Amino acid sequence: MEVVHSIEEIRREVRNLRNRSATIGFVPTMGNLHAGHLSLVKDAAASCGAVVVSIYVNPMQFGPTEDFSTYPRTLEQDLELLREAGTITVFQPDDEAMYPHGTTGQTFVEVPLMGEMLCGAARPGHFRGVSTVVARLLNIVQPDLAVFGKKDYQQLAIIRRMVADLAIPVEIVGGETIRAEDGLALSSRNRYLTAEQRRQAPCLYASLLEAAEQVRAGRQAFAQIEQAALQELRGCGFQPDYVSIRRQQDLQPAGAGDRVLVVLAAARLGQARLIDNVEIVL
Ligand code: PAF
Repeated sequence: MEVVHSIEEIRREVRNLRNRSATIGFVPTMGNLHAGHLSLVKDAAASCGAVVVSIYVNPMQFGPTEDFSTYPRTLEQDLELLREAGTITVFQPDDEAMYPHGTTGQTFVEVPLMGEMLCGAARPGHFRGVSTVVARLLNIVQPDLAVFGKKDYQQLAIIRRMVADLAIPVEIVGGETIRAEDGLALSSRNRYLTAEQRRQAPCLYASLLEAAEQVRAGRQAFAQIEQAALQELRGCGFQPDYVSIRRQQDLQPAGAGDRVLVVLAAARLGQARLIDNVEIVL
């Protein structure tokens, strides 16, 4: 496995892989890898001859009071996991390579509307940081396909839109959410939970499943379903930001005629802000 740090090196590496006629699959990450990430690597490997994984904790997507400085950085362990998963190349740039003009002098990419709602409302500037770094990574690596987890549903929808709007020649694939046995979606931020909060945490997925069940059963009183899920989350000790039933494609609020939906939630539990979602096709 090659681990490279500069744009020149990763471009050379990708060129070599292409000369061996491999299609390139790409999985961007912020490191601290777990089974969820490895599943994305597996998805990329299933359709591509070579897989590139990037590890970069992107300062631009963290708000001033967020956990950028404490975000878990576990490079050695990550590289070991990637080696076992059969990754061919790891791109691990530093801030100088990613933001030569600094994060405030950098040209940015912003997807309107979709980037401002839901998590975008609670985390101003977050999705601008995500779209900008992903656009730059896609331009650097130039993969055929890139895989993003469905757990970050809004992020995936925004990236799909950005790629379409900017005609970036890459196929975007959504990877399934990987869960612990009790239903909690795997996330690097789960490590912020105390043992007691960890026991409460599966309530998030349970509330979403319950809401999705109601929608599948034909109930169209979406606001009431959302309110009931919010109540349930508060009862489990969460401070919810939102529970919302949306259209999958553009994340606009669902109307009575919509059939391809997703119920999304974000909620705080102690130091952790957890997100999750359940897709619904009627
Ligand atoms: O989902 C993530 O880990 C990050 O938001 C991403 C896509 C790697 C961009 O920094």
